Amino acid sequence: MSNPQPHVLIVGAEPKFLQELESAMGALAAPRPVVHQVDDYRRAVEAARTRHPELALVQMGVDWQELKTLAREMQAAAPGTAIVGVYRQGAVDSEIGESAALIESIRAGVQDFIRRPVSSKDLEQLFERIATRPSAQSPSLGKIVAFVSNKGGVGKSTLAINTATGLAKRHPDRVLLIDSSFQMGVCASMLDLQATTTMADALREQERLDTTLLRQLTVVHPSGLHLLAAPNDAVVAAEIDDALMTQVLTLARRAYDYVIVDTFPLFDRIVMAVLDLCDRCYIVLENTVPTVLSGVKYVELLDGLGVEAERQRVILNRNLSGAGNPTAADVARRLNRPVTHVLPYSRKVVAAANLGEPYVMRGQTWWGFGRAMRRLIDDVEAIRTTGNEPVVAKAVANDVEEPAS
Ligand SMILES: Nc1ncnc2c1ncn2[C@@H]1O[C@H](COP(=O)(O)OP(=O)(O)OP(=O)(O)O)[C@@H](O)[C@H]1O
Ligand SMILES: [Mg+2]
Repeated sequence: MSNPQPHVLIVGAEPKFLQELESAMGALAAPRPVVHQVDDYRRAVEAARTRHPELALVQMGVDWQELKTLAREMQAAAPGTAIVGVYRQGAVDSEIGESAALIESIRAGVQDFIRRPVSSKDLEQLFERIATRPSAQSPSLGKIVAFVSNKGGVGKSTLAINTATGLAKRHPDRVLLIDSSFQMGVCASMLDLQATTTMADALREQERLDTTLLRQLTVVHPSGLHLLAAPNDAVVAAEIDDALMTQVLTLARRAYDYVIVDTFPLFDRIVMAVLDLCDRCYIVLENTVPTVLSGVKYVELLDGLGVEAERQRVILNRNLSGAGNPTAADVARRLNRPVTHVLPYSRKVVAAANLGEPYVMRGQTWWGFGRAMRRLIDDVEAIRTTGNEPVVAKAVANDVEEPAS
């Protein structure tokens, strides 16, 4: 491999499989690969996205469909990673026969296979093959940005909608807003859109969902924003699981430059799927003591889940000074991380939500909420060019209500 110390992701939990690979790797001539192991397919996508291994050695179970889905998602998350299925002859259950199943998996993006028991010679040859393959074209992937909180009513939807709309004004048809508050989505009504197609259609069409179909399932806002709305039916909404969410997100980042996700204030598998894949999550808080205290817990939870601090940003929304409310500096101290954006309370934001026209469609951008919103949109826009370097955030306490015009 070209990299002097190849990075290898091992996907599988069976002790025999892990021992087999460990001894095969141990017998390899230098350079020894840097190995990272995850137990299951869901974690594999996240590990590939964050670690960019050259190679993923995936233990194959009996289910070929699962491997194909993993291959598609890994390709989208980490196009530079070569996916190699490790299988035991005869152990694969496929209606279409083993060799046809191998071919189908290759079509889905699996690049190679090795048979168990794996020897160091097999690995050496595999490394050779991978090193000499024509380098994978890595399509430029869009960025996924989520607005999250464990508190309801703090402004996740308001900020997600305004960010997405503001970005879409700059990049029409290149921004997707996903309303993942499936049971009680508000994005369509806050944008005054008729959700003629929704995430429920993505669920129904899951088998044939691709980037083209995904774009067709969105509704388009006059700003140029595309919305994948929450289902109109709560019963259907309950059927949406994290696998569909992951599939939609991995397709969305191939179809759009920016994918903004509004979330539900509950820690469930959907939110976890979003956190796994997002390039950045904005943690939305208000400067009231109970919200800040639960924010401290939330940040600890995100850290524990492996959402690295570089992917997290803290926003203080509906900021009001006085009445003993903590300041941005207090909040930063409590959370032990910077507050990156402070958005003041603004009556016009409430009026905009009621009218179904996001503030950024008309509001000024030179003071108060408008200015803070412009900075937030700039910050998201910059992810595509500057990546996720932590910004040295200065909390700009700006809690002045803009003058009535
Ligand atoms: N900066 C702000 N100034 C004034 N009002 C605001 C501001 N941000 C949000 N709001 C208002 O606060 C209310 C709650 O906002 P929003 O629905 O965006 O919160 P949420 O976190 O998405 O809630 P939920 O957890 O229920 O999804 C709305 O009425 C909204 O208009
Ligand atoms: Mg909301």
